[in-house]
Amino acid sequence: MTCFFRRKIAAKLAKTLQQSEDVFVPALTAVPVLKKRPSADFRLSLESLRVNGILASSGDLQLQTENLAAQLKPDSVVEEISARPGLIYFKLNRSLLAEKLLEPFGKGENDNFGLNSELFETLNRGTILVEFSSPNIAKKFHAGHLRSTIIGNFIANLKQSLGNNVIRMNYLGDWGMQFGLLGAGFSRFGCMEKLKENPLQHLFEVYVQVNKEAEHSEDIKLAAKDFFRQLEQHENQSMSLWQQFRDITVKEYQHIYKRLGIHFDVYSGESFHQAQTQEVVRELQSRGLLKTSEKGTGVVDLSPNGDMSNICTVLRSDGTTLYITRQVQARFKTSTGSIHVRGPADQGLAINRKEKYCFDDMIYVTDKSQENHFNQLFQILLTMGNSWAERCRHVSFGLVQGMKTRTGEVVFLEDVLDEARARMLHNMNQSKTTKELENPKDTAEKVGISALIVQDFKGPLRSDYKFDWDRMLQAQGDTGVFLQYTHARLCSLMQRNEGVEAAAFNPSCLCDLTSVAVLKHLLRYDEVLYQSDQDLQPKYLVNFLLKLSHFVASAHRELPVKGSPPDVAQARLRLFSAARSVLASGMRILGITPVQKM
Ligand code: ARG
Repeated sequence: MTCFFRRKIAAKLAKTLQQSEDVFVPALTAVPVLKKRPSADFRLSLESLRVNGILASSGDLQLQTENLAAQLKPDSVVEEISARPGLIYFKLNRSLLAEKLLEPFGKGENDNFGLNSELFETLNRGTILVEFSSPNIAKKFHAGHLRSTIIGNFIANLKQSLGNNVIRMNYLGDWGMQFGLLGAGFSRFGCMEKLKENPLQHLFEVYVQVNKEAEHSEDIKLAAKDFFRQLEQHENQSMSLWQQFRDITVKEYQHIYKRLGIHFDVYSGESFHQAQTQEVVRELQSRGLLKTSEKGTGVVDLSPNGDMSNICTVLRSDGTTLYITRQVQARFKTSTGSIHVRGPADQGLAINRKEKYCFDDMIYVTDKSQENHFNQLFQILLTMGNSWAERCRHVSFGLVQGMKTRTGEVVFLEDVLDEARARMLHNMNQSKTTKELENPKDTAEKVGISALIVQDFKGPLRSDYKFDWDRMLQAQGDTGVFLQYTHARLCSLMQRNEGVEAAAFNPSCLCDLTSVAVLKHLLRYDEVLYQSDQDLQPKYLVNFLLKLSHFVASAHRELPVKGSPPDVAQARLRLFSAARSVLASGMRILGITPVQKM
């Protein structure tokens, strides 16, 4: 295991420098495989030892490196030690590298590989609330919602894999004036049958039509206002229609999220915190934090000097609340601790969520246009004395340009999924193996979704990118299709060689450059997960898996199993099996379901 080697090198350093092993563990990183220099496996950064005070920060770095390197002697684990100013390199015994790294795969599969690394021991594990997807009822599900959905799912999966208790929350846009319009619209253009048959489509149609009519009809505008007033006063009939819209939408979404392999523990929304919003306003008032601006609006002063140079508006001049006011409160305390959420808003929202879920961290996933909103939200919470707001985080992402299907603009999530599946199926039909698939449509769906995810996750999340069906669906090149293809190929290799079982594993059969490249790459898996966890960016993991797939492709070419002597064949199979296991577990964290055949 990776830990084994890191520990061994740390122990060596600890002995030489008379320090505890633990201080060296984070200073050691696995060296990425480079084509030209596949030599060293770990490197120690002297800079980080200086930062930790283990080495004098004023000393000559080159001299410090030379001195330390001279004191370290090779042994049965570390075969070679070399140095460059500021860095010491350790090359491991090749046979031991194969033996220890592949040990966990001795009995076949291992889904935990890399997850028990000591690197994670310093992480504070706890309850993490991840709020993501959060579409708006009756409105378009745009590319931003798709990004929030897959990014939030990745974050939740990652946090869960690293031993946290994760609460997945979908915070629907289920309140506000749009429901006044929808209510007024439904009594004019709505149809119960159509609502039941195709709820998202029908609600959207009604919403579009009523908006159009409202432009030149005072009657409709008045009816909408009236309907929303009835909702705010919880009048039965209006509430029951609203509830129906909401229930039917949630049910439909659940079905579509299932296609993506995603579930939510809680469907919350803006409607849940209406009552508490006033509480937040009272709280702000009683703490003397609510000020009146020149325009007569209610504001919180966030400027460091209290000179109103940075204010956040929380109340309109007529006293009604805004999106941000609805965001402070979140969930109610329950004695049982079970999840039960009731009724709209982010300030109130955040406070109630804290009380109800007792989370240690809360992560919001939305596009970057809401960065300012969340900064202000966190500042208001801190100003109110909620120090836990320091552990709230907004993960933001850039815009997607040009997400279209053959029939035009994307309105619903389902459109994108259907298109991905149809295009993938079309590509797959060109190959012979598709005919052997039990359920080609299902395979096409899984592969199509991986293509969407990998395209989205390759770069930094904050970057905008151009949506490109053809590029993302290429079988070669750095795509989700390539990951799936590699996985399926490994599965078929395992299947074809099921009978191969040598008496004992001989790790010395894996000392060639191609095998070592795969092994060395696997050695980095825990660091990649660690970095992903720190930055909450999927690009490290995606690029790691793509690179792994490239190494596996070379291994397929250069390391035949069939026709090799039994111990070589068996050792190679174990290497392939480890690669398959890590590939599958990484793909699952990304939110991709690996396919066995394609
Ligand atoms: N429904 C919102 C939108 O579509 C996103 C909600 C984000 N979450 C929050 N707590 N404000 O833009």
